[in-house]
Amino acid sequence: MPTLSLALPTTHYDIVIEAEGLATLGARMQTLKLGRKVLVVSNPQIYKHYGERALAALTDAGFAAEVLLLPGGERYKNLAHVQKVFDRAYAMGLERSSTLVALGGGVVGDLTGYAAASWLRGINFVQVPTTLLAMVDASVGGKTGVNHPQGKNLIGAFYQPRLVLMDPQTLKTLPSREFRAALAEVIKYGVIWDRTLLDVLESQRRLDQYRAITPEFLTMILERSCQAKAEVVQSDEREQGLRAILNYGHTVGHALESLTHYKTYRHGEAVGLGMVAAGRIAVAMGLWDQASCSRQEKLLAKAKLPITLPGTLDIERCIALTRGDKKVLDGRVRFILPLSLEDGVSLKGPHLAKMTDQVSTDLLKEILVGMTLLPF
Ligand code: NAD
Ligand code: GLY
Repeated sequence: MPTLSLALPTTHYDIVIEAEGLATLGARMQTLKLGRKVLVVSNPQIYKHYGERALAALTDAGFAAEVLLLPGGERYKNLAHVQKVFDRAYAMGLERSSTLVALGGGVVGDLTGYAAASWLRGINFVQVPTTLLAMVDASVGGKTGVNHPQGKNLIGAFYQPRLVLMDPQTLKTLPSREFRAALAEVIKYGVIWDRTLLDVLESQRRLDQYRAITPEFLTMILERSCQAKAEVVQSDEREQGLRAILNYGHTVGHALESLTHYKTYRHGEAVGLGMVAAGRIAVAMGLWDQASCSRQEKLLAKAKLPITLPGTLDIERCIALTRGDKKVLDGRVRFILPLSLEDGVSLKGPHLAKMTDQVSTDLLKEILVGMTLLPF
């Protein structure tokens, strides 16, 4: 059972990856000396599978736990639903020592974390992620928040959980498309932080669904991904610099999501396409080698993620939308680009990617047009 830890100047917490780990939730929270009152936030789809087990673990450990179920889906990740958490927190009399537990994917985790950051100026918060995306990305690192009607994640706070507890077995009920989409983020860590992870992923015949990989392999990719994220966050909790590399693939990815009104692509699918674009841009700018770029595309294809764009895509609009992204600095679009390995340097660390605002619109257009054709 791997237990990683994330240490920051003001706090530290464990990231536990454990099969059947849900049953240990209460006991683990007990060791943190949290107050008695706990509110578990989830959605009905997740709660029906895992809610009772989580609740039993909490009550067995002596916590007075209640449950709040919010509707599932990105469109409910908003202030109106944070208010519902506050209403219940008030009704339950949650105190500074009390805890909000997020049982679910990134939507539940981001919203619950933001509510925890705000209620009484901050109460305890525990992440129990149940999607692959939340396990490898959203639950670790303390970004919390909700959407504004004018844009995704515009309202938020950095607020670290006291514990992240993931039970890989909860992924067996996750729809395969959600599983595949999150693999783009795993491949992302391989490119920007831990190139050995790419070898690990290549060693598998299939990657595209929970049932196609062994529990040991799943645990290993969770561990390596969380380790990568923890190392980046430890170096730059508030995204003053390095943490921005986690946005690899997101400049074009967000533009594609926005262009298609969040209906065509899952987030990870759009990020995967953004990684293809960024990888090809890096090759064209002489920063990355063609062999590594093709390797990335083969891995994305192995995860059954899209690597080409439809010929009908409005490329001009897509380019315009990259400028509407949060990753714009002084009017220039920022890209995270992968870098070639110099001889003898470590296969892991911050030298594997960099942020640049030097990608010309002409080059971006050429690359996107190229992606509407066959992969090279
Ligand atoms: P999600 O939370 O919407 O979950 C996807 C779907 O899977 C939902 O329908 C959910 O009900 C269902 N589900 C969850 N767990 C399940 C399980 N074990 N079995 C069956 N169904 C299950 O989506 P997501 O991809 O987990 O998260 C996306 C959100 O995460 C976005 O809002 C995004 O902004 C956010 N995010 C945050 C961070 C961060 O650092 N905070 C990072 C990446 C993404
Ligand atoms: N998901 C990007 C980050 O946490 O910074």
